[in-house]
Amino acid sequence: VKNIAVLTSGGDAPGMNAAIRAVVRACSYYEVECFGVYKGYEGLIHNEMEKLNARSVRNIINKGGTFLKSARSNDFRTEEGRKKAHDNLIKNSIDALIVIGGDGSFTGALKLSEEFNFPVVGIPGTIDNDINGTDYTIGYDTALNTVVEAIDKIRDTASSHNRLFLIEVMGRDAGDIALNAGIGAGAEEILIPEEDMGIDRLIESLRKSKKTGKTSSIIVVAEGDKSGKNIFELGEYVEENLEDYEVRVSVLGHIQRGGAPSCYDRVLASKLGVGAVETLLEGKSQVMIGIVHKQVTIVPLTTALGKRTHKHDRLIKVADITSV
Ligand code: F6P
Repeated sequence: VKNIAVLTSGGDAPGMNAAIRAVVRACSYYEVECFGVYKGYEGLIHNEMEKLNARSVRNIINKGGTFLKSARSNDFRTEEGRKKAHDNLIKNSIDALIVIGGDGSFTGALKLSEEFNFPVVGIPGTIDNDINGTDYTIGYDTALNTVVEAIDKIRDTASSHNRLFLIEVMGRDAGDIALNAGIGAGAEEILIPEEDMGIDRLIESLRKSKKTGKTSSIIVVAEGDKSGKNIFELGEYVEENLEDYEVRVSVLGHIQRGGAPSCYDRVLASKLGVGAVETLLEGKSQVMIGIVHKQVTIVPLTTALGKRTHKHDRLIKVADITSV
């Protein structure tokens, strides 16, 4: 491998810049050329790339977002789009590709690799923490801290007004952000996609905690929760069915995707970026570099794209116990 390209794809995540930096610097260390592709697979299709050197990535380890930009490419879902992308890789003499992104990005990387026998390695970068085969994805820790900070602030006003707040957090189909930030911020209830609590049990539980002397409440709702209602409908339902509580709804939204990466995410991104380059130089392909029990681990992309095996049971119990 002599020329490696790197791109960021899908929803951006804090720490993507730190991962690009690590890739570029590892290339420099191992004396291979590194190309940065702009706007994810879109840039690959339109040949938007340039050579990067160790100095191109100065002063970015602390920056949120991705300086290479990111996109969700519809054209790359087509065979024709992937053919154009492959043609551009060959035209630029690139012989391996590193994709920093989530499951959609990995699906594209795997297809490209299978169709053209092209070496690819994935680095998990998404705030959702929803990738199988890695304990953490880049950006998740920062997003958790952002959410906890926001809920702490909402708690102040909830408590001053004796109000109940429903707070929607991101995570797509995964409840990791909701569950962990919910526990960290001391939420009374947490609704996640992996577990259907049932609205009536929710109302019952809130009623019970009111009786024990609680005067305000925080309910963290994952965007993919199973209540069957959107958060505003859920808010109305709770207000109608729960006596003496004024209800407010807050959707945290894209604030969760921005901001300076936490130290944890910067270190994780650095480890995975270096690991990705080393893995390509060892001749491996169609794998993801993840972290399992603090060890950098290589898993097939097919495993990364499979159903997650880890369970939330223990955390759900901890949340139940600590919110009585
Ligand atoms: O995958 C990251 C994520 O922020 C999800 O949590 C969310 O469902 C989605 O992306 C939002 O996507 P977009 O920024 O395209 O609206």
